[in-house]
Amino acid sequence: MLDLLQQRRSIREFKQLPVETKKIEQLSEALLRAPTSRNLQPCEFIMVDDSEILAALATAKPNGAAFIASAPLAVIIAANPEVSDVWIEDSAIAAIILQLAAEQLGLKSCWAQLRLRPHNKELSASEYVRDLVDLPAGMEVPIVIGIGYPAENIPGHPRESLRDVKIHHNQFSKS
Ligand SMILES: Cc1cc2nc3c(=O)[nH]c(=O)nc-3n(C[C@H](O)[C@H](O)[C@H](O)COP(=O)(O)O)c2cc1C
Repeated sequence: MLDLLQQRRSIREFKQLPVETKKIEQLSEALLRAPTSRNLQPCEFIMVDDSEILAALATAKPNGAAFIASAPLAVIIAANPEVSDVWIEDSAIAAIILQLAAEQLGLKSCWAQLRLRPHNKELSASEYVRDLVDLPAGMEVPIVIGIGYPAENIPGHPRESLRDVKIHHNQFSKS
């Protein structure tokens, strides 16, 4: 896991290669195994490999989602706030579990933040995606993750110098 984390970066350019069905099944299993508060499981996951829907997802917000158009796979993470008051946390945990499972399968990914982001003056990004993929009224769409084989190579961050700045022992200490 640490090897994987040392190399992990967000990737936004993908080869035009599909993600194999077997890997989509493994990613689906990872999503279903993500922990949720009180095991309430408020999330729904939509695995998108249709190029028209991918292109439409890339316009969910004016900036920061365009990379989804080059991804062969996107996972829409939706949640029902009526099922759990901590649906945001549960969604974020599912997203990072998905991203780490993708890394382990040799895939790369990037998060597109939709919660709190507008699509245009009338619609939120979440409402836009909800309508796009026919989710029921009341569902929120906080996150879309774009996934595929990388067409760019970005080295992992050096983080060693942060150890003494960000990690504290028993009490917060300014170093
Ligand atoms: C909560 C969250 C929201 C993010 N939203 C976006 C986004 O909307 N568009 C995007 O291109 N990247 C997005 N990212 C990716 C970050 O920009 C990226 O993780 C950060 O710059 C650090 O780079 P790294 O992942 O390569 O270490 C998001 C990441 C997180 C954790």
